[in-house]
Amino acid sequence: MTPLQISASLLSADFARLGEEIKAVEPFVNMIHLDVMDGHFVPNISFGPAVISALRSLTSLPFDVHLMISPVDYLINAVAKAGANIITVHPEAGAHIYRTLQKIKAQDCLAGVALNPGTSIEILKPLLPVIDLVLVMTVNPGFGGQAFLDTQLQKIKDIRTLIDETDRKILLQVDGGISSKTAPLVVEAGADILVAGSAIFHGGSDHYEKNVAGLKTVISVQ
Ligand code: DX5
Ligand code: ZN
Repeated sequence: MTPLQISASLLSADFARLGEEIKAVEPFVNMIHLDVMDGHFVPNISFGPAVISALRSLTSLPFDVHLMISPVDYLINAVAKAGANIITVHPEAGAHIYRTLQKIKAQDCLAGVALNPGTSIEILKPLLPVIDLVLVMTVNPGFGGQAFLDTQLQKIKDIRTLIDETDRKILLQVDGGISSKTAPLVVEAGADILVAGSAIFHGGSDHYEKNVAGLKTVISVQ
């Protein structure tokens, strides 16, 4: 396992001040999570490559881009060009997930696969040679601030076992409903990266250090 990392989801940041929000959270987190939504694959619309590109020069932290769009292949190169370091896709977003992952890797980005709460881990097995990250959704994708689905904990454990049986470095990321209460459950189940939106971006920028520390304090006593 790698040391635990925190990815701050901008979906819960102030969209009128995204640049300032990145600067405010940057000292306390390991990467920035950017949720791209199309109003079709998920019932919400967020932002796309133009916004990612506008934010890119503000930080040297990795951009961890979670694509909730269908179709998805057409946007991969634009998202990579905008400055993504990790690009994560849902297998339901297109007919050929293996090809989509190859397309991501051809752009020199890490390739991630996201599993919805209703998606089985079986889909991962043939993809293990080409994936760099597995994202487990612990809410239904589309919105921040939803309640954590503890039905997904066993899936996280099963994926941890699956990854540990490979000889590849594959990161295990968990996204949705992460808080100081749920973080220890997810870490115990085997997560490497916690995505957190509403748990970090609340109370104003003066609170971000404390909000992230709250997640890490719980984590450090594991
Ligand atoms: C939801 C997104 C998440 C979201 C998490 O579809 O993928 O990244 O921002 O928000 P919280 O941490 O508030 O559950
Ligand atoms: Zn996300």
